[in-house]
Amino acid sequence: MIDKLKLIREEALNNIKNINNIEELEKLRVKYMGKKGELTLILREMGKLSKEERPKIGQMANEIRQELEKGLANANERIKEELKKEKIQKEKIDISIRTKTKNLGHTHPLLATIEELENLFISMGFSVIEGPEIETVANNFDALNSPENHPSRDLSDTFYINEEILLRTHTSPVQIRAMKQMKPPIKIVSAGRTFRFDDVDDTHSPMFHQLEGLVVDENVSMANLMHTIDIFIKELFGEDMKTRFRPHHFPFTEPSAEVDVSCFECRGEGCEVCNGTGWNIELLGCGMVHPKVLENCGIDSKKYTGFAFGMGVDRITMVKYNIDNIRLLFENDNRFLEQF
Ligand code: DAH
Repeated sequence: MIDKLKLIREEALNNIKNINNIEELEKLRVKYMGKKGELTLILREMGKLSKEERPKIGQMANEIRQELEKGLANANERIKEELKKEKIQKEKIDISIRTKTKNLGHTHPLLATIEELENLFISMGFSVIEGPEIETVANNFDALNSPENHPSRDLSDTFYINEEILLRTHTSPVQIRAMKQMKPPIKIVSAGRTFRFDDVDDTHSPMFHQLEGLVVDENVSMANLMHTIDIFIKELFGEDMKTRFRPHHFPFTEPSAEVDVSCFECRGEGCEVCNGTGWNIELLGCGMVHPKVLENCGIDSKKYTGFAFGMGVDRITMVKYNIDNIRLLFENDNRFLEQF
């Protein structure tokens, strides 16, 4: 029996060494240690042995069983490890492979203009703030002193979300937010998207951009407003540019003015673009903040005065970059955008 055990041990260990997969491993386990396995049968026959032989052979058989179990467990580990390696090998990604190179983007001309304007105003001591595109009717119209019957409030001019909320028609409501949140002195600009029910043509779009400015302090005058705008226009377009203030009406400023600047083409000489006038008209709106608007925001209009202005960023971008169609700014056609 001892010889038989030795033989089983040798043969089994040899077989285990050569196993290559889980199925073979299971077959071997059954062959030796299954219910009718060779080793199991021997252990079962132990009863037939003499008292002296039993412990000796029992111990040997048990040791062999442990050895085989260990061998099988090791083989199991080895097979798993090999499977894993094989899987990794198959899944390997060749990171050296060349793919189509991506084009790097750059700042959109509209954003470039907004950043240039903001930087100019920052250099003049203004802070940049933001306001929401979805506004209350109260901030967009009421607090800005716009009368109930003002045409811009009409359903056919403005995108209402409900009776109290709309897509802002201008950036002026940011003035209201600033005055309600800050105490004078206030000196802010704010740029962003605005919305009106306009049909699209070369110069109109239902979504466009404005930049708003507001200064509130003691002793702020129309002279400060005119000087600020004049410096700003010269910085933006060149020292030779002149500004002209024409009286106008806005509900939220009194007095109000529209600003014309020298024609960008002829710089004031008179040419075809400006119909010989030398002026580029209506570049921005401005005025002294209406006392009612100050009071609507809890600012003492006896102590403080202010000026405000608003301009179309799309228009400024178009003259700066010589773009003749506003659609080009929003189509995001790379052939156009790559030129800037
Ligand atoms: N909100 C005006 C518009 O959309 C522009 C404007 C005019 C803004 C005068 C101002 C201002 O702040 O004082 O036409």
